[in-house]
Amino acid sequence: MSGGTESKNWTYGEYLQLSKLLTLQGEERDISNDEMHFIVVHQTFELWFKQIIRELREVRDILNQESVPEYEIPKSVDHLTRTTEIFRLMANQWSVLETLTPQGFLAFRDGLGTASGFESYQMREFEILLGLKNEDRLGGMDPLKGFKKAAENDSESSQIYNQLKLEMEQNSLFESLMDWIGRTPIMGSKFGSDGDEEEVARYVGEHLEAHRQHGESMYGNSISEQKISERLEFANDNAREFLKPGGEINRSRVGLLFIESYRELPLLTWPRKLIDGFVELEESIVKWRHSHARMVERIMGKRIGTGGTSGVDYLDATSRYRIFKDLWGVRTILIKPQNRPILRNAEFYGYSSE
Ligand code: HEM
Repeated sequence: MSGGTESKNWTYGEYLQLSKLLTLQGEERDISNDEMHFIVVHQTFELWFKQIIRELREVRDILNQESVPEYEIPKSVDHLTRTTEIFRLMANQWSVLETLTPQGFLAFRDGLGTASGFESYQMREFEILLGLKNEDRLGGMDPLKGFKKAAENDSESSQIYNQLKLEMEQNSLFESLMDWIGRTPIMGSKFGSDGDEEEVARYVGEHLEAHRQHGESMYGNSISEQKISERLEFANDNAREFLKPGGEINRSRVGLLFIESYRELPLLTWPRKLIDGFVELEESIVKWRHSHARMVERIMGKRIGTGGTSGVDYLDATSRYRIFKDLWGVRTILIKPQNRPILRNAEFYGYSSE
């Protein structure tokens, strides 16, 4: 039996495989109502994780193409929007778990042994797919380590490990996005065209100068105060380093700056919607992580986790992870529209002032 094209006179129960699904909650172990709810919540999260991976993979594969057909960008935005809604829904789902009292949890916690959400391989898969780097995890943790060890023992674990490794070897969603943004026409100059490097460098120079002036005009007379002038200098260095890390222009970041700076241009509508979709997604993930930590703090205080981490402190640290760093970073160096460099080749972007 294959795929969604098969039409059959299903019953509801057959179509959803309910008789299988509803035997997977561990009732044969004579569990309490509290524990059954704990299992059901975890299982619903894992089902959502499964859907999230499908949605994100599709966006990654669209953006990974050497030339992305324009009509596929709205499709990518739709997949991101759905993923964000799933995270928002999951963030609210923690409140169902909060009906579990600390004592109610302790009553069955020992039975979990060392089982922990920490071992959720689907969670690791979507983190890797999104582009979370090992060096950005707490303590530079390698998420594959535990799975590699388990893979020595059985074939199911080995399959999981291979899948994660495969994901690690591919372009992440974030890398695919930045590669695509890197090909954005800047001031009407197409990526790889004659004179493109000069045009991009000119725009960077203009923006950095406007950024410097913008900072100075904001602080008026207090610019003479040492602290303020040091901060402004730091902000200017930061802007330069963002656009020209190590002195070399990063065209992806410059493309991102260009899209964010000239958001009203018709040709940039979908690119900016796509970028907004990424930002919203990461924000929803951060809030989901944060509310997990608050739920855990309420139910088990600062106890160590069944997975052996410090518990709440570990979870709070993970809510400071940022994957789409450049999308956040560019916000720091934007300037008000009145001060941005004058747009060249406006007609290229479908913009006319008449
Ligand atoms: C009473 C309910 C829960 C408690 C007390 C709890 C506690 C914890 C703790 C302490 C950790 C840190 C790792 C460790 O040392 O174990 C953790 C991690 C995790 N938990 Fe929960 N959790 C609960 C419910 C859930 C649910 C319903 C899910 C849904 C799948 C979940 C998913 C995760 C994930 C994915 C991690 C890994 C986070 C990361 O490494 O970034 N947890 N949990």
